[in-house]
Amino acid sequence: MAETAALPQMEPYARHVLVCTGGYCTSDRRGRALYSRLAFLLQREGLLFGPHRVKRSEAPCLGVCNGGPIVAVYPEGVWYGHVDTELLERIVVEHLKGGRVVEEAVFHRLAPVAG
Ligand code: FES
Repeated sequence: MAETAALPQMEPYARHVLVCTGGYCTSDRRGRALYSRLAFLLQREGLLFGPHRVKRSEAPCLGVCNGGPIVAVYPEGVWYGHVDTELLERIVVEHLKGGRVVEEAVFHRLAPVAG
């Protein structure tokens, strides 16, 4: 009988932010600078630990490939386009910390699955 490997362990978190760092939604890959900035902002706002912990991940492409940089926030399934440093600041302070989606910058929402 094969030995069962222990399952990975992970601290709880409230939200997960995905940042596209690819070169199609912005030709100069501006998402890379945003991804770095996001780490600073999450630390500044106290969102790296505790019940409001936010995980961040970069992706080489999020399947949109225009109107970037693209940032997606889960579990809400809210997608932001044309994210610059000012909008990223608002996303962190208003959405990730305050729980209020920055509605005017949303271009897509995860559709609920019936059933
Ligand atoms: S390269 Fe950014 S969404 Fe595809």
